[in-house]
Parts: sequence; C-alpha cells; structure tokens
Amino acid sequence: MSRVLLLYGSSEGQTQKIMNEISKQLKQIGHQTDLFNLKTKENKSDIANYDGAVIGSSIHIGRYQKYVIKYIKDRVDELNKIPTAFFSVNLTAVDKTPKAMDKTTEFIDSFIDKTGLEPRIAVTFPGALKFSEYGFLKKLLMKSLSKNLIKDMDSSQDIEFTDWMEVSEFVTRYSKFLEKPDISS
Ligand SMILES: Cc1cc2nc3c(=O)[nH]c(=O)nc-3n(C[C@H](O)[C@H](O)[C@H](O)COP(=O)(O)O)c2cc1C
Repeated sequence: MSRVLLLYGSSEGQTQKIMNEISKQLKQIGHQTDLFNLKTKENKSDIANYDGAVIGSSIHIGRYQKYVIKYIKDRVDELNKIPTAFFSVNLTAVDKTPKAMDKTTEFIDSFIDKTGLEPRIAVTFPGALKFSEYGFLKKLLMKSLSKNLIKDMDSSQDIEFTDWMEVSEFVTRYSKFLEKPDISS
C-alpha cells in the first residue's frame, strides 16, 4: 500500500469533484489517500511521509489559483523526491482543435515553469460550466466565453464536460508509479 497526498485548488468545485473521484479509485485499488483543499485547509502533513502526490488546479482567466502555485513552489524539492502527477482543469480542453490543444499544453507548461514540479504524468481534463455557482456578471461572462463551445446553451443548468473514463485512465497510469497496493486490505 502507498500513502498518496492529494492537493488541489478549485474555485467552483469541479477540480474538487475530480480529486474526490481520484481518491476513491486509489483507495479501491488498495492505497491510502489524504486529501487537501489548499485554499481552506492548512496542510501540515510532512511530504516525506508520502509515497506519491497528485496535484490538481483549474484555470481562471488564463491562470491557476495563486495559492496552489505558491504551495507547490514552496515544497517542490520535497515533492520532486516522490512520484507526482499533475492535472489541469479548464474549458479550453472542450474544444478539440489543434489550437486549443496547444493552449492546454501551454497551461500545463506554465504550471511546471512556475512551480518547478517534475510530474511523471501531466494531463488536462475538461471542466464544467457551473452556472449555479456564478453570480450575475460571471454568468454573463461565461455564457459569452463559451458560446462557441455549445450551440443553444441552456444556462439554467450546470454543464459538465469532464470525461470520467479519462480520469480512470489517469489513475491507472499514475498507480504504476506507486508501490504495489496491499490487496489484503
Ligand atoms: C471566471 C472564470 C474564468 C475562466 N477562465 C478560463 C480560461 O481563461 N480558460 C479556460 O480554459 N477556462 C476558463 N474557465 C473555465 C474553468 O477552468 C472551468 O469552469 C473549470 O471547470 C473550473 O474548475 P473549478 O470548479 O475546479 O475551479 C473559467 C471559468 C470561470 C468561472
């Protein structure tokens, strides 16, 4: 069994939902997880106690949450001693054109440049439009920014683009870097 540290930043909850699923799946295959929302919970855990770490953060106006960048940057030497994986959540990834795909790669590269993290795996998951979480202006902005993504958008409900199969594949790929799970537990 490996102990895996799960660290995330999530402004409207989609990265948190993805991390919860990652935690559930890692536990199902016999690993232990500790989950920390870097915004609300001071994580005093010693990274040296963990066998691996997964980090997730979402994009807002072209940037990741500042508190995530700072937290990872401040502890990057320790994190780089264990196998890490990073996932980025955004809506650019909904658009499968080469230009959009290049942009999602740029987002990942900027996280790596800013923090110095050396993840074994770095992927992008399409996020969600959480109209129920947005105030009036944010709703207007997001309707306008995403009108090219969906025709006849119904902003009365949240729209989730995350592909849960991709999340499972990520867990399968990452778990290969961890010690063998304890199948007796
Ligand atoms: C105010 C705002 C700005 C956003 N800016 C971007 C952006 O610049 N690029 C992008 O690809 N997605 C952008 N998004 C989409 C978010 O990345 C997406 O909704 C994601 O699911 C948010 O994840 P979270 O709920 O974990 O914060 C934006 C969303 C909001 C609400």
